[in-house]
Amino acid sequence: MLNYLLLVLYAGAVLSDVEKRPNFVVILTDDQDIVLGGMTPMKNVQQFIAKEGVTFANSYVTSPICCPSRASLLTGQYIHNHRTQNNSLSGNCYGTEWRRKEHRVFANALHDAGYNTFYAGKYLNQYGVKEAGGPEVVPPGWSEWHGLVGNSVYYNYTMSNNGVPTYSTDLYLTDVIRDLSISYIENQTESQPFLMVLAPPAPHQPFTPARRHEGVYSNVTAVRHPNFNIAVDDKHWLLRMPPSPLPETMMPELDRVYRSRWEALLAVDEMVADVIGALEVNALLDNTYVIYTSDNGYHIGQFSQVYDKRQPYETDIKVPLLIRGPGLKKNAVNPQPVLNIDIAPTILHLAGVKAPDMDGRPVKMEKEEIGERYMLVEYYGEGRDGSVDEKCPWKYDGDNLAQCYPEYDCKCQDARNNTFACIRHIAQRLNMKYCVFADTEKFAELYDLTADPYELTNAVDGEFQAIIVWYNNYLSHMLKCRGAKNCDDPMGEFSN
Ligand SMILES: *[C@@H]1O[C@H](CO)[C@@H](O)[C@H](O)[C@H]1NC(C)=O
Ligand SMILES: *[C@@H]1O[C@H](CO)[C@@H](O)[C@H](O)[C@H]1NC(C)=O
Ligand SMILES: *[C@@H]1O[C@H](CO)[C@@H](O)[C@H](O)[C@H]1NC(C)=O
Ligand SMILES: *[C@@H]1O[C@H](CO)[C@@H](O)[C@H](O)[C@H]1NC(C)=O
Ligand SMILES: *[C@@H]1O[C@H](CO)[C@@H](O)[C@H](O)[C@H]1NC(C)=O
Repeated sequence: MLNYLLLVLYAGAVLSDVEKRPNFVVILTDDQDIVLGGMTPMKNVQQFIAKEGVTFANSYVTSPICCPSRASLLTGQYIHNHRTQNNSLSGNCYGTEWRRKEHRVFANALHDAGYNTFYAGKYLNQYGVKEAGGPEVVPPGWSEWHGLVGNSVYYNYTMSNNGVPTYSTDLYLTDVIRDLSISYIENQTESQPFLMVLAPPAPHQPFTPARRHEGVYSNVTAVRHPNFNIAVDDKHWLLRMPPSPLPETMMPELDRVYRSRWEALLAVDEMVADVIGALEVNALLDNTYVIYTSDNGYHIGQFSQVYDKRQPYETDIKVPLLIRGPGLKKNAVNPQPVLNIDIAPTILHLAGVKAPDMDGRPVKMEKEEIGERYMLVEYYGEGRDGSVDEKCPWKYDGDNLAQCYPEYDCKCQDARNNTFACIRHIAQRLNMKYCVFADTEKFAELYDLTADPYELTNAVDGEFQAIIVWYNNYLSHMLKCRGAKNCDDPMGEFSN
């Protein structure tokens, strides 16, 4: 009898604990910057997430490129540990090794702990291609799967609906993701907690707005910070390539890209309002964390570049991160340095689920001071056969250069030796970046972002020689770090 009573009490306690477990909605945009005003069109994100939660003012990604960055968000690991190096299958973007270890994706831990899990939108760039099993493959860890085949597009795409490929010509992808998510929310009850990841294509190239948003920002032009279209001679090889500056005739194209990105984001902003509304109507909002972020930033015209990511500058590595949810402050700004590898451990921590080995660490939601952190940014430059257009004058071996097109005035966007590792060091009185390139010059760049927020002056030959010795040593340890404790303190400086 006593045993029975205990059993009933115990079951009751477990059930009420289970009931209290929070839900999670993660919204992951593609290439949305923060530095150039990429959040300006997001009025609903401001109203329903920023005003109701916490904005992280120092949020960075481990790599300024889609696939490696997404792999970091999904696994909580740095690139040297998840080993997705670039956007190709051969670089482990949904490659063999990734698929073999895909159970590391944080959704698996939640799913195993009883969560219902839902994914809709772009996953890793090579998901669904024939060589990787096609769209019939459903990645492990997801109860419901709506993965986009390949890279971000807005129309004319294949989506894998739980392993059933469905081709669509004229349904705007962001709206499809919105409709699926609303339908999913309507099906949820309080008895089982859920994770929902929504990964819309915006504002990735080709920057196609929904028809209802075409022309909304027709008067907007690209932001011209002091580093806009300036000639460069103190930065790494790719940045020094001509033309520098870009000709004035390219400026209308930069403005067009800038405003199209804003217009393409409006459907995401509407989706956010609709998702929040559906959570509220279904009485789920109070127990749901909503996390809004992007896979990397973007540059348009900085340092005489065209438009892209793949560079170590703030435009490319700094991203929006906003979180609302039970118990969090409202309308708060949190200055602590945060990386995309922190998101998975944060979610698992809030869910009370044990995390597998991760390099990131749970974000301290209540923390108000900056603290100190060394963050690692890794990038492997891509080269590509045949992407140096024959109309371009470059005689360099074409395999090692990428994306050099006449419509970009032949300015190349990437090169194999655009491979770098950076320490992004933020503390109360320090705001530094130090990068080393794997090129024949072993080129190094150092920026003191307090004095030089637009990274106009490479200070590597200046007054900072002592700190550069320290950064070189630190970087070599960071590049081998594994696990949160080790990656926080890779030289064992602060532990005994
Ligand atoms: C989709 O593909 C069809 C057929 O190739 C084409 O006519 C149409 O313009 C495409 N739609 C968009 C929005 O690109
Ligand atoms: C919600 O449930 C309905 C009825 O069972 C089903 O038809 C629909 O596909 C579900 N929606 C999602 C997104 O799972
Ligand atoms: C663009 O600017 C013109 C002139 O200032 C103004 O009349 C018009 O309303 C603006 N259009 C938009 C879409 O803001
Ligand atoms: C991606 O990385 C792999 C492995 O390092 C390399 O073989 C491949 O050439 C890279 N892809 C591109 C486009 O550079
Ligand atoms: C970078 O690669 C290009 C193309 O192979 C080459 O021409 C150039 O000299 C390299 N620059 C450095 C600094 O390694």
